[in-house]
Amino acid sequence: MAGPVQALEDRAVACADRLRSAERVLLASHIDADGLTSAGIAATALERAGIEFEVVFKKQLDDHEIATIAARDEETVLFTDFGSGQLDAIADHEAAGDFTPVIADHHQPAEADTEYHLNPLLEGLDGASELSGAGASYVLARALEGEGVDNRDLARLAVVGAVGDMQAVGGELVGTNRALVAEGVEAGVLEEGTDLAFYGKQTRPLPKLLEYASEVRIPGISNDQNGAIRFLDGLGLDLKRDGEWRRWVDLDHEERQTVASSLVQRALKKGVPADKVDGLVGTTYTLLAEPEGTELRDASEFSTLLNATARYERADVGLAVCLGDRADGLERARKLLRNHRRNLSEGLQWVKETGVTREEHLQWFDAGEEIRETIVGIVAGMAVGVDGVDRDRPIVALARKNDEETKVSARGTGRLVAQGLDLSAVLGEASDAVGGGGGGHDVAAGATVPAGTEREFVELADELVGEQLG
Ligand code: C5P
Ligand code: C5P
Ligand code: C5P
Ligand code: ZN
Repeated sequence: MAGPVQALEDRAVACADRLRSAERVLLASHIDADGLTSAGIAATALERAGIEFEVVFKKQLDDHEIATIAARDEETVLFTDFGSGQLDAIADHEAAGDFTPVIADHHQPAEADTEYHLNPLLEGLDGASELSGAGASYVLARALEGEGVDNRDLARLAVVGAVGDMQAVGGELVGTNRALVAEGVEAGVLEEGTDLAFYGKQTRPLPKLLEYASEVRIPGISNDQNGAIRFLDGLGLDLKRDGEWRRWVDLDHEERQTVASSLVQRALKKGVPADKVDGLVGTTYTLLAEPEGTELRDASEFSTLLNATARYERADVGLAVCLGDRADGLERARKLLRNHRRNLSEGLQWVKETGVTREEHLQWFDAGEEIRETIVGIVAGMAVGVDGVDRDRPIVALARKNDEETKVSARGTGRLVAQGLDLSAVLGEASDAVGGGGGGHDVAAGATVPAGTEREFVELADELVGEQLG
């Protein structure tokens, strides 16, 4: 590796040296799939390096949470998948001698400086598509390798984190993420393949796989249970076993070919544009050590399983799964997943029924208590492109956090970013102006604002988006 990646590795070496000199490390990470895999990678690497540590998870790293961490009197705090955006507050605590921060993150850094800071954006790499928090943690894990330690197996978790953060571009990981994939393949833990791009190939019965697919919508199949069954019945294949529908993983190569090419034909016949039809096929990342037909085998399903734990205050369960718990931990995670799926589907249904309000430059909805604030961003992302929700302007979603605060999540598209959209700046500025705070990435960002300021916030955000795209 050379250039920016070399520079990133140099940063990782400095961070690793600092961690090795610590008596004990507090590892603090973010509560989503990327944050959990970041913690899983960092925890494993610390363990293998013989460094004592403890893990805590935070929903948001705000001033209050940083102060809570400072109050613990830790010598060294390793922040993964957050920390850069809060660098100003963290640097203040460092200056006060509260702790030494080590940061492995990929969010837009705040204006401040610190010595042990690993972030792709500092080297001109894109933190929304080229490297995730788990990827940054992986680069750190490689730098932590000592005699006889090979941390390349952790690349599988880095890929789950990147996929969970929606870093794939056109269905495929790019940039430094690709280099991590290659290392995982080399280490024998990952396989990269080209396959149907639908979510749920490991676990969903075929009709559900097709009915729920949101990646490419095919009239008469997507969102249409009977249509999906009729389509499958009409293929002349034996797609059931003992009366039960088989899953995609249960099909052999030829059967998959038949289903996939029939889907393509159907999509074209129904007038789905050719560039959309291309999206039916994408790159899949398979975790080779996991059994076929389980959520853990596929990076995308694995990441959803993790979101299902951490976003419901059970980060401990998700971390246990990342660390290899295939008994109790996995069982609990699967229960949480059923609940998460139901919430996503009900949330999306609510948005479809309620609709969004269109401003000049953005569209928004306020879910109040209808959608949990920890998943309103996921729902907003899934809503883009459904009937009544435009792809040509960003979506801003609000949900009640508590009596005093409202959570905001915003999502854009790659095309809008190419036109100048930077949601991190929009949410940062607009939330600051109303007494809140936020940040994130150009294509996806979040904020917390005081209850009662929602309208003012949306108006400000609308103006800022207008300035960026104008
Ligand atoms: O905290 P954080 O970086 O981990 O989360 C990234 C968020 O951005 C995820 O919720 C992901 O779904 C969203 N995202 C997106 N579209 C992209 C890239 C990221 O919606 N192209
Ligand atoms: O939950 P997460 O953001 O990881 O989901 C990633 C993607 O997987 C969603 O955007 C959606 O397209 C798909 N998904 C789905 N059905 C679910 C959960 C996730 O189609 N129940
Ligand atoms: O919470 P949500 O999924 O909408 O977050 C989108 C992105 O914005 C994530 O990368 C998250 O870490 C970031 N974010 C932030 N500050 C907040 C809320 C979210 O940087 N207050
Ligand atoms: Zn992340």
